[in-house]
Amino acid sequence: MKATSSDSVDTTTNLAGIELRNPVLTASGTFGYGTEFKAFMDLRRIGGFVAKSLTLQPRFGNPPPRIGEVRAGMLNAISLENVGVDAFIETKLPEIPEGVPVIASLFGTEISDYGEVAKRLTGVPKIAGLEVNASCPHVKSGGIEFGQNPVVLAELVRCVRAATDAPVLVKLSPNVTSIAEMAKVCEAEGADGISLINAVQAMDVDVRTRRPVLKNILGGFSGPAILPIALRMVWQASQAVKIPICGIGGITESDDAVKFLLCGATAVQVGTANYSNPMAAVEIADGIAAYARDAGFSRTADLTGALETG
Ligand SMILES: Cc1cc2nc3c(=O)[nH]c(=O)nc-3n(C[C@H](O)[C@H](O)[C@H](O)COP(=O)(O)O)c2cc1C
Repeated sequence: MKATSSDSVDTTTNLAGIELRNPVLTASGTFGYGTEFKAFMDLRRIGGFVAKSLTLQPRFGNPPPRIGEVRAGMLNAISLENVGVDAFIETKLPEIPEGVPVIASLFGTEISDYGEVAKRLTGVPKIAGLEVNASCPHVKSGGIEFGQNPVVLAELVRCVRAATDAPVLVKLSPNVTSIAEMAKVCEAEGADGISLINAVQAMDVDVRTRRPVLKNILGGFSGPAILPIALRMVWQASQAVKIPICGIGGITESDDAVKFLLCGATAVQVGTANYSNPMAAVEIADGIAAYARDAGFSRTADLTGALETG
């Protein structure tokens, strides 16, 4: 619906059954457990956040160096260090203000672990939905292994679906041949939505030491350089499925986020940008509303899929 410039813009949206006050979330692993960002912002100004991926037991990550800066982005091989699902519920969630949708990200090295983590989070106050991390590019078992094989991905989504009645998003890997095929698998197995993309598998080398920059050798590449890849994948997935898509990858400013919405995303997640600007997600949410108003849209939700391709 078109609006006049004096109208205020409705920024609310519904992502896979999760009511958001605006379409901007923060991405798993780049926003801690939300508590770390309370000093920088009122968390109610963003649509919500996806917490660091949780496993059944607490998990230590890879040894350093596990972060590297590259042109237009970063490499990481943190390897899902986290406090574990029970400690998250007991010690982190109580610190989150009411009214902030928290999406808990699930990870496991066995498919059954994902189901158990999903069960423990179901019905917990403040948990608005679950995101299945089927795509971590640098863990030895689980993650990318599950997200690259359509048969295994189907089994994973089926397991989580059976374990919970909470909204389920499945986070897909860009390290696949056909993102459309993976998106269809998720839809067929009852996922409520998909998030894409996780980091792109990559490596870098220090020529002075002639060693890989990361101790793990391989890591995940994120940040502005991956935006066009992510955008292409969101576009292809949006052509393939009807379930909503949360677009992720290199979003640094509001025009980046608008591109994802136009290509079919219902909401977006801001990741690496949080490290250089902790207020990035708030600024991007405000910028999307301003864009919608200036372009004559009364609802930011109407930007979804509004790409002109003729
Ligand atoms: C340091 C770091 C840690 C991350 N940890 C997780 C994680 O625990 N679970 C997950 O699903 N994605 C994780 N990601 C991937 C991000 O959520 C996001 O999908 C990716 O970085 C691409 O978005 P960006 O370019 O905006 O950062 C991590 C990314 C970074 C940079």
